[in-house]
Amino acid sequence: MSLIFRVETVAEIDSTNEELKRRALAGAEAGAVLRAGLQTAGRGRRGRNWVSDPGNLYMSLLLRPVKSPAEAATLGFVVAIALGRLLRAVLPVSVLHKWPNDVLVDGRKISGILLESGGITGGKVDWLVLGIGVNLRHHPAESLYPTTDLLAAGGPNLTPDQAMDLLLAEFRPLYDIWEQQGFAALRDDWLAQCTGLGETVLARLEQEEVTGRFDDIDADGTLIMGLADGSKRRITAGDIFVARH
Ligand code: BTN
Repeated sequence: MSLIFRVETVAEIDSTNEELKRRALAGAEAGAVLRAGLQTAGRGRRGRNWVSDPGNLYMSLLLRPVKSPAEAATLGFVVAIALGRLLRAVLPVSVLHKWPNDVLVDGRKISGILLESGGITGGKVDWLVLGIGVNLRHHPAESLYPTTDLLAAGGPNLTPDQAMDLLLAEFRPLYDIWEQQGFAALRDDWLAQCTGLGETVLARLEQEEVTGRFDDIDADGTLIMGLADGSKRRITAGDIFVARH
């Protein structure tokens, strides 16, 4: 049976991810969706903060899929596909996925996805919190990567509520496919709209930087990089930058 989303909106919170993690640990059911007007401690990937002033979309979903941590991590790609579809329907410019879970509008980052899971028992996660931030009306001036927002990119003036509803509508059928068939059934959709495939990319990892050709992603979402010596390097976490001439 398809999951039922129960949406709650609050004016302000520390972080929608933190709040749903707290609720997950207190036994909340799957399907809880929390949207905040602003976050006072919004979090990004790799310990970064996420500027969360009013006007943009800040939301998280609590899910309890029967998946291993590695399988659960692939859900970020699924949200990126949903968001890409939504944005392509309303924007006149290119909308591409960027590994691992970003969406680029005209080459600029418009969103962020933060996936957290825990409570592993029998090899499966007990809970998964999927945090999504989408720049609707403003974007940070300074960041690791060039950024934009929906309005600046020539899109409609969507309220955070409207954007959330559209996103949930795109995400729901994709989630059902992912839950039943896994990421393998959606991998081609992600790859078909991704930036940098077959090109030289720089991957900034925890301890080092690696440059190579972005050859593929596997069924776990791991990036497969072809190195100059002909070997392959598997990259599970990091930031990539596409080298353009
Ligand atoms: C990234 O670094 O690209 C991921 C950013 C994720 C931000 C969203 S906003 C809603 C949810 N709550 C958080 O604290 N973070 C995520």
